[in-house]
Amino acid sequence: MTILSNGHLWKHSEFIENKSFSFDKKKILNSLSKKDIDEAYLSISNWEGYSPTPLIELNKLSKELNLNKIYYKDESKRFNLKSFKALGGAYAVEKVSTGNKSIVVATATAGNHGRSVAWGAKKLGLKCKIFISEFVSEARGMAMSELGADVIRVKGNYENSLMECIKQSTQNNWHIVQDVAWKDYMVVPKYTMAGYTVMMKEIADQIKQNEISHIILQAGVGGMAGAMIAGIARYLVNIPKTVVVEPDSAACVLESIRTGKIEKIDIKRESLMGGMSCGEVSLVPWEILKNSVKYCISLPDDNIAKTMKLLENASLSDDKIIAGENSVPGVICLITSCEDGKVKEKMELNKESNVLLIGCEGDTDQEMYQKLINQ
Ligand SMILES: Cc1ncc(COP(=O)(O)O)c(C=O)c1O
Repeated sequence: MTILSNGHLWKHSEFIENKSFSFDKKKILNSLSKKDIDEAYLSISNWEGYSPTPLIELNKLSKELNLNKIYYKDESKRFNLKSFKALGGAYAVEKVSTGNKSIVVATATAGNHGRSVAWGAKKLGLKCKIFISEFVSEARGMAMSELGADVIRVKGNYENSLMECIKQSTQNNWHIVQDVAWKDYMVVPKYTMAGYTVMMKEIADQIKQNEISHIILQAGVGGMAGAMIAGIARYLVNIPKTVVVEPDSAACVLESIRTGKIEKIDIKRESLMGGMSCGEVSLVPWEILKNSVKYCISLPDDNIAKTMKLLENASLSDDKIIAGENSVPGVICLITSCEDGKVKEKMELNKESNVLLIGCEGDTDQEMYQKLINQ
């Protein structure tokens, strides 16, 4: 070990295997259909400024870990929004508005989803109301105001901001564009997930014949992970081993996979991985994830800043990569899995493995990024 050494420990908190694992393409595409997926690609790939984000090889890391290849989908280059979320919220706005310019769209957000909704509304000339909790940084709020949205700060946490968004939207007849599903609210979250599947279409084109043996997916409410698994069912012939990674303070997918039903986590400490600090898996993704995720891993915050720095100073690849705090858990999860002999063997991580990681975001909060990089 050279890059990762210095007596530094790379450890995850928990690793579990899904006892109910069975990857059933047909069942997955019942939750998010081929039609939904294809429509999203057709629409988004025609947006002005669209181009696929890079798929970068972490060649220095694969050498270090003795794996064949590690691919990193770099979403810091997604439009000018610097995160995969640009694909979801904006696409859902387009679907909800159906050409009606007089509607008002509203959402509650931790940051990146709201930025996507505000951007989508701006493109279509719609009014937009964004609800944020007291934990969302000034910089993230500003980014949404600059896109023309009215940003409304709500006392309390994300859930409080969502409650306020629902209340005011009901009173004012605004259209809620949320990435989280609940009973009676499934259609719009499905659109956001359909938008995210564009990443998998691009990856399928980019890897050509190279098969992916493992995919590691970050989860907050599970929308991105569920979408990528639907994308695998739609676009890939061979099914990689699917791994979900979460902060150990908010491992709602892991706990739900463990018991086989949705478990709510009481978050005692907000993780640095803010976009993934969610207490409950969303309904639409859960239907996909419950059987199609093979392994779940939870992580402490310990290695976030260090890994961001390793990517930034080109220690893991030939190119320097700007990766935000929600972008590095995939990299950390792969390292900790390789460092744990038993887990490495169980997951069959070896010199033939081609691992796909999702670099969900760049420096979407520049202040936070600089703080972590300079730690
Ligand atoms: C910025 C950001 N927000 C949220 C998430 C989680 O996505 P979801 O809530 O759809 O699981 C991620 C994924 O890692 C992310 O990078």
